[in-house]
Amino acid sequence: MSDDKLRERDVTPQAMYLNRRAFLRGGLIAAGAAATAVAYRKINGVDLLSSDMPEIKDLGRPLDPQYHPDETTTAHAAITNYNNFYEFTTDKDGVAAASAGFKTDGWKVEVGGLVNKPRTFDMDDIRRLAPREERIYRFRCVEAWSMVIPWAGYSLSKLLAAVEPQSGAKFVAMETLFDPTRMPNQKSKVLDWPYVEGYRLDEAMHPLCLLATGLYGQELPPQDGAPLRIAIPWKYGFKNIKSIVKITLTATQPPTTWAKFGPSEYGFYGNVNPAHDHPRWSQATERRIGEAGRRKTLPFNGYANEVAMLYAGMDLDVNY
Ligand code: MTE
Repeated sequence: MSDDKLRERDVTPQAMYLNRRAFLRGGLIAAGAAATAVAYRKINGVDLLSSDMPEIKDLGRPLDPQYHPDETTTAHAAITNYNNFYEFTTDKDGVAAASAGFKTDGWKVEVGGLVNKPRTFDMDDIRRLAPREERIYRFRCVEAWSMVIPWAGYSLSKLLAAVEPQSGAKFVAMETLFDPTRMPNQKSKVLDWPYVEGYRLDEAMHPLCLLATGLYGQELPPQDGAPLRIAIPWKYGFKNIKSIVKITLTATQPPTTWAKFGPSEYGFYGNVNPAHDHPRWSQATERRIGEAGRRKTLPFNGYANEVAMLYAGMDLDVNY
């Protein structure tokens, strides 16, 4: 390879990265401006117009442009002050305050079940396993609101490959920490604790399924699922389990928190599907946080080209 080619390879990703950084900053300002013009609001007393952007660190490196939808990223203040994290409170505007002192020192993730190399990872192991990438994903809650979030992390497939799934493994079950002294709303019975989620192994191995440890170039804050969570952009928000301590590969479909809570309302799959309404929320449209009006919801949240083949031949009205 000639020197010229080498230089080109070295320089181009860096330039793309800087451009994207500028785009991110522009996105924040644009989101703020849209909010002033039409739907100005504070979330949790935090002014969405304030320059709340934390210092951007080089947490993730850019990957393929397919991971960066050409959409305005949601304001950092909204992503970190409008949350669902029932272990702390059911009040979306209250999660940031209720989780503020949550300590993740010494965090461990036990990965086992039908694997050849079961292993307990600490956060240094997790960070060392693969380079972090930045992925800008659409995020769609079944409550019909949405955001665009710049995550940092790597494909869950990298962690799963490291433990070598056995041929009998068909599903991946995950669990959030259970510790009512640190997650005070676990003293209530609002959900069955610990929060559990699950995916088919092929869904979990899909490159879009992200093991996220950061957002907006920072480590994940407690309210967004520190120190590690799933970001699976073609599924509703409830499938994005936070503060994971256990991952188990299984032969059979594992129970999931929201399907246990309301089996007629929440299925195992939780794929974004504008044609299948939730009994309480139409799924045809969504409110993008920071915007006025509503957007049409897209099948698989706009990721159909990447993931629809995982569900070929399945009746998505039955498997919701
Ligand atoms: N994970 C745990 N452990 N506990 C929760 O209450 N809520 C889910 C999901 N993961 C939840 C969770 C729901 S309903 C949504 S919409 C998303 O987290 C919200 O993620 P966010 O607060 O980062 O936007």
